[in-house]
Amino acid sequence: MKLFIDTANIEEIKKINELGIISGVTTNPSLISKEKAILIDSIREISKLIEGPVSAEVTSDTAEGMVKEGKELSKINKNVVIKIPMSEEGLKAVKILNSESVKTNVTLVFSAMQALLAARAGATFVSPFIGRIDDTGNDSINVISDIVEIFKKHNISTEIISASIRSPKNVLDAARVGSNIATVPYKTLIQMISHPLTHIGIEKFNKDNKK
Ligand code: G3P
Repeated sequence: MKLFIDTANIEEIKKINELGIISGVTTNPSLISKEKAILIDSIREISKLIEGPVSAEVTSDTAEGMVKEGKELSKINKNVVIKIPMSEEGLKAVKILNSESVKTNVTLVFSAMQALLAARAGATFVSPFIGRIDDTGNDSINVISDIVEIFKKHNISTEIISASIRSPKNVLDAARVGSNIATVPYKTLIQMISHPLTHIGIEKFNKDNKK
């Protein structure tokens, strides 16, 4: 499973990129507003830092508006992927953008059937939201494993990005059931590095080395 970072914070992207563990970035309007940044400037900077896919979300309600915004954003850099919300208008926009070879990531996916529709419209990626599914009392991992199974059974090449990740356990679950990618917040990626036995082990080796 590949790892993306889910942030619009430039310092976090730079720091995590030094570790060699991430191969893409996802953003959304909430993450960009948290940085008090302008979407287009933020995407320009991030897409220069990272070679892999950088998802930039449209905010229009209509397919026409989404396509217009998507085309503008895709001109920023060849690695920019257009993030489109799951809806009738969103699916229309995905179909048009796909026919013009613009890559898309269908977001706010909460069921396997939504994922199938997104894939059939021509989405490059689909983003089921693990944390928000669990918030409703449902089991996100059933949703992810259904999508994995359906895509495999029907030779669908759309990649699954497990999103709305809140803990290392969410990443473990996504990897176990075969998600192609997990997009993970900075804090969670850092948590994944640590293990108490690693710290104890390093301390002991250092102590013994001094003897
Ligand atoms: O990738 C989507 C993510 O940013 C949403 O996360 O924690 O707001 O559900 P959250």
